[in-house]
Amino acid sequence: MTYTTILTETRGRVGIVQLNRPKQMNAFNLAMLGEVFDAMEVFDKDETIGAIIVTGNEKAFAAGADIKEMAEVTYAQMVVEERVRVWDRIRGIRKPVIAAVSGWALGGGCEFVLACDMVVASESAKFGQPEITIGVIPGAGGTQRLARLVGKQLAMEMVINNRTLTAAEAQQFGLVNRVVAVEGYLDAAAAFAEEIASRAPMAVRMAKDAVNAAFETTLTEGLAVEKRDFYQLFATEDQKEGMQAFIEKRQPNWKGK
Ligand code: HXC
Repeated sequence: MTYTTILTETRGRVGIVQLNRPKQMNAFNLAMLGEVFDAMEVFDKDETIGAIIVTGNEKAFAAGADIKEMAEVTYAQMVVEERVRVWDRIRGIRKPVIAAVSGWALGGGCEFVLACDMVVASESAKFGQPEITIGVIPGAGGTQRLARLVGKQLAMEMVINNRTLTAAEAQQFGLVNRVVAVEGYLDAAAAFAEEIASRAPMAVRMAKDAVNAAFETTLTEGLAVEKRDFYQLFATEDQKEGMQAFIEKRQPNWKGK
């Protein structure tokens, strides 16, 4: 597929989507959003791929939704065109999605990161929800996912008073899995993703499903999802292979079925 706003590559079992509007600090216009999700869905369906990375460049992961594209939009257009709905496509991706973040992750950029499953940040990464400074609020999950992740008080400060987090702070508050040097940050994320991609594919899928249930349901419902997913794995060849390999003291050979 030919894309105009993103670049894609594969490294081993890792599919990489790179946001590529550097002159606009990778601000998400609708064209880029569509291409990002198209590319992610292609990788999601590709059985040679086990994990997906979304990244930007050293200076900016993404500086939010494209303000110039949004500035003249009316309330009626927002409602009729349902402009935010497209962001939900990330919830349909079943493989692990890792954000590799360097520089600015602001507004929709931060919200995109919050919707990913894991985050590798360079030391220069900065996370924030500055929508209040342009007279709006986060619209793609920023108030909800951020509050669940970092708690009410810090989320309030970030959303209401434009508090920006450094990479170290983001790690401290649970928004980031690891912080690495700016130089080679994508290589570090790719190594992390390759490790994840080497895990039993069916179990990875169920694991993502079950952990996500913790944010969607009551404890009782979440435990039921976990139990169902756990039981279902006993219908897979990978469960038999994984346990047999342990008993035989060898590495498992995953089939993904
Ligand atoms: C459109 C943007 C942009 C954005 C940067 N640019 N962010 N264009 N939308 N979100 C453009 C600038 O206009 C400028 O274009 C070029 O990128 C370089 O940006 P500078 O500001 O000159 O760079 P710098 O001084 O280094 O500052 C970087 C920055 C700043 C801190 C990231 O650009 C900034 O604050 N951007 C806006 C961040 C923001 O408010 N995001 C929230 C958006 S609302 P020119 O043509 O002048 O060179 C949102 C809601 C999502 O995300 C809701 C879901 C639908």
